[in-house]
Amino acid sequence: MDTTKKNPPRVLISEAELQRRVKEMAGEIDRDYADSDSLVAIGVLKGSVFFLVDLLKHVTVPVAVDFFQTTSYGSGTKAGEVRIRKDIDLSIRGKDVLLVEDIVDTGYTLRTILDLLRWRGARSVKLCALLDKASRREVEVPIDYCGFRIDDVFVVGYGLDFDERYRNLPYVGVYE
Ligand code: IMP
Ligand code: MG
Repeated sequence: MDTTKKNPPRVLISEAELQRRVKEMAGEIDRDYADSDSLVAIGVLKGSVFFLVDLLKHVTVPVAVDFFQTTSYGSGTKAGEVRIRKDIDLSIRGKDVLLVEDIVDTGYTLRTILDLLRWRGARSVKLCALLDKASRREVEVPIDYCGFRIDDVFVVGYGLDFDERYRNLPYVGVYE
């Protein structure tokens, strides 16, 4: 039985806070890419979708959109175990790539994707992440645009799931 309605996750970042910060981040991106006519925003499925859509609605510079999907094998993410399940369709050679992710945890997923994007000849690669769980980091991943830094708690909502549930919550909550 779905108990979402009875026991909704405790609010960590409200819908209003999310929307305010997302708009602010879009403003920073707009300024930084004002002179670029080859910006490609790449979301990591599925978690980043809600964030990416809201973010890009506030971006006014020309931007193409594409998606990656990754999987990590075994229990938890480990080095070398990140696989690409769905690759991007666009060529990114010579493009300014903005990778959009829901959360940076250990960093293995992002490290793998960032290395791949650079190897494919992107002109620039930057990372935009809604949430940063910095205390969990195992490999270094510089975040160029970071929404919120959070403690080591398991969060759901606004794209983030527990077993595919809660993605559609309009806020970020703590799953207990
Ligand atoms: P990393 O490779 O360990 O950085 O893993 C990042 C991925 O783990 C994210 O894209 C999420 O899919 C997932 N993840 C990490 N922490 C959480 C969380 O608190 N809630 C939901 N998913 C999470
Ligand atoms: Mg994810």
